[in-house]
Amino acid sequence: MRVLGISTSPRLEGNSDLLLRRALGGAESAGTRVEYVRLGDFKIAPCIECNACYTTGVCTVKDDYQGLLQRMLDADRLIFATPVFFMSVCAQAKTLIDRGQCLWAHKYILKRPPIAGRADRRAMVIAAGGSKGTKQFESIRLTMKVYFDALDVCYAANLFVNQVDEAGEIEKHASAMNEAFRLGDELACSDSDPPKKPVTVELF
Ligand SMILES: Cc1cc2nc3c(=O)[nH]c(=O)nc-3n(C[C@H](O)[C@H](O)[C@H](O)COP(=O)(O)O)c2cc1C
Repeated sequence: MRVLGISTSPRLEGNSDLLLRRALGGAESAGTRVEYVRLGDFKIAPCIECNACYTTGVCTVKDDYQGLLQRMLDADRLIFATPVFFMSVCAQAKTLIDRGQCLWAHKYILKRPPIAGRADRRAMVIAAGGSKGTKQFESIRLTMKVYFDALDVCYAANLFVNQVDEAGEIEKHASAMNEAFRLGDELACSDSDPPKKPVTVELF
């Protein structure tokens, strides 16, 4: 069992990043091998909409994307962490997601078999936002649903935390840190059937 955590925030040790590290701690406590990557350490350019992947299934833009994608495909569990930026994922996360168009083409245009070659892959989203709004995470939910479908990974869980703004403020939010650990542990050791829709924990 391999768990890969992707921290997409531009802010090192920001709130979503700290929640991700905690969730990985939970996964590690379940005896799994965990890996943490910071998206900012990778050079990933935006999709150029050349549509070459519609005939090849492969992205023509050559950068760090291919290497990161392989690591994502090799993982049994993914934890994707993002801040809320203008009611959605941050630009860094969206750039990675848009490059997933080759995955969508692989699956829906070329109708090729699942790209990962591993069964029962599951993913969790962690998102932190500064304000308190009831629709804060709706766009993130939709974007991640479509992205995980293209990646052929089951969308298993969400941890959404409102009203954390200053970098590191989340460390004072004991219930959020505890939930991150618990959900990380659960994601890693779950041998139950994958959920039909993601289990969501939203905290204020
Ligand atoms: C460009 C930008 C846009 C933001 N938009 C929102 C927003 O729409 N809703 C919200 O609740 N917080 C918003 N925030 C606040 C961040 O979500 C908040 O500070 C969060 O804790 C950042 O997470 P991080 O530390 O993981 O980067 C925004 C912050 C920035 C810099």
